[in-house]
Amino acid sequence: MRTQVGIVGAGPAGLLLSHLLALRGIDSVLVEMRSRAYCEARQRAGVLEDGSVRLLREAGVADRLDSQGLEHGGIYLQFAGERHHIDFRELTGGRTVTVYAQTEVVKDLIAKRLASGAAVHFDVTGTEVDELTSDRPVLRFTGADGVRHEISCDAIAGCDGFHGICRAAIPAELLTIRERDYPYAWLGILADVPPSTDELIYAHHHNGFALHSLRSLTVSRLYLQVEPDEQIGNWPDDRIWAELATRLGLPGSGWTLRRGPVLDKGITPMRSFVSAPMRYGRLFLAGDAAHIVPPTGAKGLNLAMADVAVLAPALDSLLHGDPALADAYSDTCLNRVWRSTHFSWWMTTMLHRTPEADEMEAELQLSQLRYVVSSRAAATSLAENYTGYSGPYRRTL
Ligand code: FAD
Ligand code: DHB
Repeated sequence: MRTQVGIVGAGPAGLLLSHLLALRGIDSVLVEMRSRAYCEARQRAGVLEDGSVRLLREAGVADRLDSQGLEHGGIYLQFAGERHHIDFRELTGGRTVTVYAQTEVVKDLIAKRLASGAAVHFDVTGTEVDELTSDRPVLRFTGADGVRHEISCDAIAGCDGFHGICRAAIPAELLTIRERDYPYAWLGILADVPPSTDELIYAHHHNGFALHSLRSLTVSRLYLQVEPDEQIGNWPDDRIWAELATRLGLPGSGWTLRRGPVLDKGITPMRSFVSAPMRYGRLFLAGDAAHIVPPTGAKGLNLAMADVAVLAPALDSLLHGDPALADAYSDTCLNRVWRSTHFSWWMTTMLHRTPEADEMEAELQLSQLRYVVSSRAAATSLAENYTGYSGPYRRTL
């Protein structure tokens, strides 16, 4: 069997890449180890940068995003018993973010790919990539029907997330890895209750960080900082709501947190990880396969989409005999990756309570927060990073 681009992983990176390639007349085969239902239900990110929204619109997959996405012009930063608004529109000359769940982005992309008859194989096992330094790299997998396939490709895209097989197929001595684990994790819930806020609240509290996000006007998404090795069994719903109410509460303000049935809950570790370069021969890594950020800056999904927006034209040129963009792919992406890695680290360390931090560190954190909400320059820096810094990191379709 032959295809132009073999793609491993039907997360946002792999699905969007296969669609962007199709728009350029390039065919691909996409393989995914999970079922379609699992991919469409996996609860993850929820905030799209300005540029990600534009990319999905230009790619013709934004009908539901445009009708159901919620445009937000800012966030709230809360600390020391006060809630402050950071006005993105005003600070950045009109830029915003859009609340639209990763589950919905994935559903839209899967529907679009399947409607156009694309080769998308769910429930595969035994994925292998081989002959990566040749002009004909090979993708092997066993389909849901038990039949083993071997596909000869012009290039392979490793979009298989942090635990995938593609990064591991690159000789370890060729990779430079930079990583940091944080001494806390996030407990996240999805709740069938209208949000108690019009825009996201990021709260720094003595008990730890809390975030009030949302998925729609009727569904809330909330997070609590917990111990890194915390067990979900220690957190019955009542304890979660009580802790959220404490950390998000504003005594004396009359603001209350609405409670409702918990639809989903889970614990996510916090890690920064960058593996470079993002290319080995004719294997190109994109998204979480190459880099992970802690979720506090809402960057993971946006970075995955930014990578494939660079990769699609690079593969197009490579397949037509011009390797310049493919040769620049890794450096182009890593520029943005490191900006987002820094921003996510900065938001994370500013907002979480560091276990065993001394009073000095606690005061430094508060000083940083006070500076962000009182200096236009500092607030603008947060706003431009959060909405998607575009300077030299601009993406093109
Ligand atoms: P993924 O979405 O991980 O997709 C990779 C796909 O590859 C998966 O479907 C996987 O099943 C498949 N795969 C893996 N191995 C193989 C194989 N061998 N063969 C075939 N298929 C394979 N970001 C935020 O901005 N905000 C958040 O709140 C947030 N929460 C998160 C919570 C969790 C639990 C996780 C894991 C991530 C979270 N992220 C969040 C990050 C964000 O969701 C990711 O950055 C984003 O999913 C990256 O997309 P991707 O396509 O690169 O990888
Ligand atoms: C969400 C997650 C984030 O990490 C974040 O910073 C904002 C929102 C969310 O899941 O809605």
